Amino acid sequence: MKHQPDFRRYLVSFDASSLGQVFTDTLIIGAGIAGVRAALEAAQQVRVLLLCKGTLDESNTWHAQGGIAAVFDPDDSLQAHIKDTLLAGGGLSDEKVVDLVIRSGPALVQELVRWGAAFDRHKGRLALAREGGHSASRIVHAHGDATGQAITNCLINRLKDQPAIRLMENTFVVDLLSDQDRCVGALIAQPGKELTIIWAKRVILAAGGIGQMYRETTNPPGATGDGYALAYRAGARLEDMEMIQFHPTTLYVAGASRTLISEAVRGEGATLLDHSGYRFMPDYHPDAELAPRDIVSRAILQQMAKTGRANVFLDVRHMGPKKFRTRFPHICAMCESFDITPGKDLIPVRPSAHYMIGGVTVDINGQTSLQNLYACGEVAATSLHGANRLGSNSLLEGLVFGKIAGEHAAQAAQRQTRRLAPLPLGNSITPSHKTRLDVPDVRNSLRSLMWRNVGMTRDANHLAEAIEIIEFWSRYVMDKVFDEPQGWECQNMLTIARTMAAASLARQESRGVHFRSDFPQSDEKNWRKHITFTVNDPLSQLGK
Ligand code: SIN
Repeated sequence: MKHQPDFRRYLVSFDASSLGQVFTDTLIIGAGIAGVRAALEAAQQVRVLLLCKGTLDESNTWHAQGGIAAVFDPDDSLQAHIKDTLLAGGGLSDEKVVDLVIRSGPALVQELVRWGAAFDRHKGRLALAREGGHSASRIVHAHGDATGQAITNCLINRLKDQPAIRLMENTFVVDLLSDQDRCVGALIAQPGKELTIIWAKRVILAAGGIGQMYRETTNPPGATGDGYALAYRAGARLEDMEMIQFHPTTLYVAGASRTLISEAVRGEGATLLDHSGYRFMPDYHPDAELAPRDIVSRAILQQMAKTGRANVFLDVRHMGPKKFRTRFPHICAMCESFDITPGKDLIPVRPSAHYMIGGVTVDINGQTSLQNLYACGEVAATSLHGANRLGSNSLLEGLVFGKIAGEHAAQAAQRQTRRLAPLPLGNSITPSHKTRLDVPDVRNSLRSLMWRNVGMTRDANHLAEAIEIIEFWSRYVMDKVFDEPQGWECQNMLTIARTMAAASLARQESRGVHFRSDFPQSDEKNWRKHITFTVNDPLSQLGK
């Protein structure tokens, strides 16, 4: 497979010597759980600059409802959590990584408690919820269904006490800077200001996910896949880009922008009904509503097709309105704002894009394939989740790998005693004016295309068509030079959409979240391996 049409190393023209310059030991891009945890760790050793695309309350972490998975129940065990994670991963998880993350979980969650995270308690102990694919109750949560906010607030408070960390919000990273195959910093844009160069000894990418690539998503508007595109253009390896997880239950009401209804609701006994009131999940899996997410999502899709309807319903009437409001206050308020009273009314739901399992390849230290560049959180592919992620294992991964990446990047930065000096980097592009572009229209068209052709059920014809259309759009979008985030995001989305479609086409089997209707079975002999991309080797396979 060839490069994307008009592939460019940098999206804009610049001359480093004529721009404002900032110097730091460790630059961290993204301020969700992974980025902030990395910053707190790195700041124990070196100066840190933490960048946030929007504000601290716009990350995927902030929106997390369910919680963070860790073993606290005396009847549960680390082995059981490891086994569940490996089982869900469908043969693509790395056992060493799974072991490391699961074993590190309880201590790091306790650390959050010491730092002031107000997790819910029951009889003095952490209250634990159940989610799909977990064989025990091990989901730590806060304010019922606002775990992400509680964790973010705790980490933000902690940040304030750290003089070594400088935070810059509303900062868009246009590109990573590289020189002789190593990452040396980033080119940033802030509203109303000239571009600025940041020179850094080490860079940690923690820029979150890609949900906005799909018409229907649980993710906030900022999740446009920028981190993946930054790393790819800079030469880092991506992997598992076909592994996109769809969450089974998002509110399906016009105007509700696909708000998540946490899996923890099913953990409390909610059932799924079709339009005739039939509970269909037992027909699809012995664990019914608590089967792994890919199974529940596909079952909903099949039931929608069978009944010719655009949604199914979540039934929480067994809880009654009062109990539901106490356990899930935010979900309840959100449903009520659309005149739905959970506990009395059925909640209309359907699946939508939720989490990118693949991403920038990292090793056990969070190091990417590009020297000096680390990654953690959703943007990183650690091989914890394999081909399918268990609910609430992602905040855990962000916490564990945030700490690891922060520690290793800071140690490496400290070892580099040579002072940072500006490099003579630059780039010149002649802008093309050949088309008058309606950027929002391209973005919306791409999101619809991805939903239709690279969604929960895929086949060769639709995937090949998606690649052809993405390449066609890319020809007149990638040759432009934009001066604001909407245009850059659109270019990032096209770049990464193509890798997602190409990887999905290449994997001629079904495994975990990747379902091919033309290859409905797993192919252990040929496909128990990862699909990787780099700019110089756009599609290859890696047995890890
Ligand atoms: C949920 O609350 O269902 C989402 C949790 C997750 O995706 O890990």
